[in-house]
Amino acid sequence: MAARLSVNLNKVALLRNSRGRGVPDLLAAADRTLRAGAHGITLHPRLDQRHVRFTDVPDMARFLARTWPGVELNVECEDHPDLMELVLAVAPAQVTLVPVTPGEVTSDHGWDLPRQGARLARSVRLLRDAGLRVSAFADPRADVMGRFADAGVHRVELYTGPYAWAEGAADVANELRALRDAAAAAVSAGLGVNAGHDLDAANVVALRDLPGLVELSIGHALAVRAWDVGYTVAIRELLDGMGVSPAPTPRS
Ligand code: PXP
Repeated sequence: MAARLSVNLNKVALLRNSRGRGVPDLLAAADRTLRAGAHGITLHPRLDQRHVRFTDVPDMARFLARTWPGVELNVECEDHPDLMELVLAVAPAQVTLVPVTPGEVTSDHGWDLPRQGARLARSVRLLRDAGLRVSAFADPRADVMGRFADAGVHRVELYTGPYAWAEGAADVANELRALRDAAAAAVSAGLGVNAGHDLDAANVVALRDLPGLVELSIGHALAVRAWDVGYTVAIRELLDGMGVSPAPTPRS
């Protein structure tokens, strides 16, 4: 089965928050994302609400149910009681539990199993009892996939950052092998496989045949690329609005 693309809209929320008004609009961004052919939407609320706000999560769930029935909302979050309360109230199609280190800029590691296994299992049980599909963020290590299954998750989301940043053919091959081995071990343990972090149109190619792959969650590189390809159009529109011609290029 071909993998689905769930687009993470955190960067849209970050831009919105920088002005304190509703632009860009998160629901309009979801609509554009889905019209372009993406399969699902991911939101990642954090306790400090620095990008997605708590209120965005029920708003998005309602919007999708009304306008895009059948499209899945994936909510990534840590298992803090406030966030657990939020996802239990909203009941998205999937909750991806992510461990958080205070001060981190973005998620940069999977759950540390077996050390955090009992804690993860408790949170998974709460969500499973509410009928939710649960995924957990995991470093690409084949030896711990059985422990994720023991914790009760339906899927793992393999952390692809080290693969995306690898430089040189040998490092890329090593990171890819780690992802493949971990994905194969997850499948053997009865788990579905999601993956994400710093993926883009080039580095996803080698992930096409990742064992058990169901979904890729992608945000940052997509936002950067949209900025790159959209900027020229935006400047031309602005110059048009001003009634002036583009400056000749190149200029000294
Ligand atoms: N998965 C998790 C757990 C994340 O925290 C993030 C970033 O919010 C992603 C996937 C998506 O990563 P990126 O924004 O680099 O595409």
